[in-house]
This record gives sequence, structure tokens and C-alpha cells, in this order.
Amino acid sequence: MRPANEPGVDYRELVWRGYDACAEEYGASRKSQAGDELRGLLERLEDGASVLDVGCGAGVPIARTLSRRYRVTGVDMSEGMVSLARRNVPEGEFVCGDVMSVEFEEGSFDAVVAFYSIFHIPREEHQGLFERIYRWLKPGGYFLCTLSRRDEEAHTEDDFFGVTMFWSSFELSKSSQMLRDVGFEVVEVSSTAGGWADEEEAAKEDHPLVLARKKG
Ligand SMILES: C[S@@+](CC[C@H](N)C(=O)[O-])C[C@H]1O[C@@H](n2cnc3c(N)ncnc32)[C@H](O)[C@@H]1O
Repeated sequence: MRPANEPGVDYRELVWRGYDACAEEYGASRKSQAGDELRGLLERLEDGASVLDVGCGAGVPIARTLSRRYRVTGVDMSEGMVSLARRNVPEGEFVCGDVMSVEFEEGSFDAVVAFYSIFHIPREEHQGLFERIYRWLKPGGYFLCTLSRRDEEAHTEDDFFGVTMFWSSFELSKSSQMLRDVGFEVVEVSSTAGGWADEEEAAKEDHPLVLARKKG
């Protein structure tokens, strides 16, 4: 683990280039359908609702499972991932772009999900990301996301699917407070495993899963 503070290194580029390089291998290691991690949303959201998947990766398992009932848009800044998502979820609509700069119309989604993607964005930007998501949601819309249990300053690790990868997070209580500060009500906090096809690998992970709701 190395602090991500090397001058001249563009860590955002490191993330998308890293995912471009490992897209096939990463996509192949994911479960093909989601399970309990989407329960909170599936129980509350009507068929035909519009859902945005932030950092959709290869589209599996999340966008694919959502697309059985909903109209899914995915955004990911790795072109390699977006190509796989288009192949894996032909009924979805996928945009290649950075969630911190891409534009969607205000109030255009019934729900937004973000699985294992927020921790790849510098934590100083997380509140800004929550504000963007809040704006894109319709009143009463849901935000379902994995967050982190631990405070982790920006750092890189070299052994992620053969590439160097960047992580940055606040601990759960601080992230939850940021969601509230933006205007969300935190509806439910549970946990989920890693989403890997290999169940033993998945069971080693434990990510806080937060369901929040825009007021209105
Ligand atoms: C760990 S993968 C998770 C992918 C997918 N959600 C899943 O569960 O398999 C993280 C994804 O987030 C994307 N990502 C990271 N930072 C992003 C950003 N700022 N904007 C858009 N996508 C981003 C990466 O390119 C990568 O595909």
C-alpha cells in the first residue's frame, strides 16, 4: 500500500486505465446475477422505473439484474468496461464518462445505485458526488450504494487484477452524515459481500450497503 500523493500522477487516469487493462478479467470474475444486495430497491421500486448505475463496470451482476425490471442507464469512465456492459446488458444504455463531470438532467432517475465504485473517487469529492446524485434523483427517489467501514486516506495497491489501483474512503458514520447533510434520509444500513462469482472469495469481503432516500 502506498500513499497516493506522488507529484505528476493523475490518479483518476490511473483508475480508468487500470480498469481498461483488467476489464475482461474483472468482468469474468463477477457473479452473473445479483442476489440480496438489490433487495431493498427491488422491494420498493415499481417495474419500469429508471435506474442509474454509477461505476457500472462490466454490467454484471448489478445492471443485468436491474434490467430485468427497470430501464437501466450505466456510467463508467473505463471504455473497456462500457463495451463489456453493452455486450452483457444489451437492453441497457451505457455512457463512458466520469461521474464527477458527466451531466444528467435534474430529477431524471427513480433510483441510483453505486456498487464498489465510490471508493475509487478521492474522498474529498464524495460529498460533491452525493450532491450530484441527489440532484439527478426524482423526489422520493432511492440511492443504494456500497460504502466503506474504515477511514482510508488515498492510497494505491499494486496487486489488483495485475494493475495498480487507487482507493480513498471515509468511515461509514462520516459518509452517512454526509448523505444526511446533502438531504438524504438514510433508510437502511446492511452489509454485502464482494459480488464475486467465486463464493469463497465473496465471503471474505464485507461492505456496508446503504439505502438512502431523497426527500419529497
Ligand atoms: C470495482 S469496479 C465495480 C464495477 C461494478 N459496479 C461491479 O459491481 O462489478 C469499479 C468501477 O467504477 C468505475 N469508476 C471508478 N471511478 C469512476 C468515476 N469517477 N466515474 C465513473 N466510473 C468510475 C471503474 O471504471 C470501475 O469499472
